[in-house]
Amino acid sequence: MKILTIHGPNLNLLGLREPEIYGSKSLETINLEIVRRGQELELTTVCRQSNHEGEIIDWLQNAGKEGFSGIIINPAAFTHTSIAIRDAIAAIGLPVIEVHLSNINAREEFRQKSLTAAVCRGTISGFGTTSYLVALETFKLLLNI
Ligand code: DQA
Repeated sequence: MKILTIHGPNLNLLGLREPEIYGSKSLETINLEIVRRGQELELTTVCRQSNHEGEIIDWLQNAGKEGFSGIIINPAAFTHTSIAIRDAIAAIGLPVIEVHLSNINAREEFRQKSLTAAVCRGTISGFGTTSYLVALETFKLLLNI
């Protein structure tokens, strides 16, 4: 079983970017943790990051053809703005779990609204890197694999 993790804009700067909010780990370290936990769970994981809305939409649309059974997505700021990413998630018919490092419900008002959450299976928000690992474990249970 293959799970795709998509990191949205500015997450390539993790470790340097507002560490008091997003932690001190780099994206590379987070991806390593995802891959390792995936191996323990016998899930094959692929991690991608993009600063471009269209590229994220292409990855979502192609995920089924690429053989992925589920998607973990941190849409980052696109969470709050992108009807196009929301529509892509709704269109593809694959289970998608939305993830956030910070607890978006405890932050600025504009972050408390997610345009994408309603078309995802669920959201895991506020646990730092652990949010991604909980999403992987959730897929293990959900997909019964
Ligand atoms: C984020 C929260 C978003 O509001 C923000 O724009 C991000 C990261 C998080 O993981 O906490 O870039 O998605």
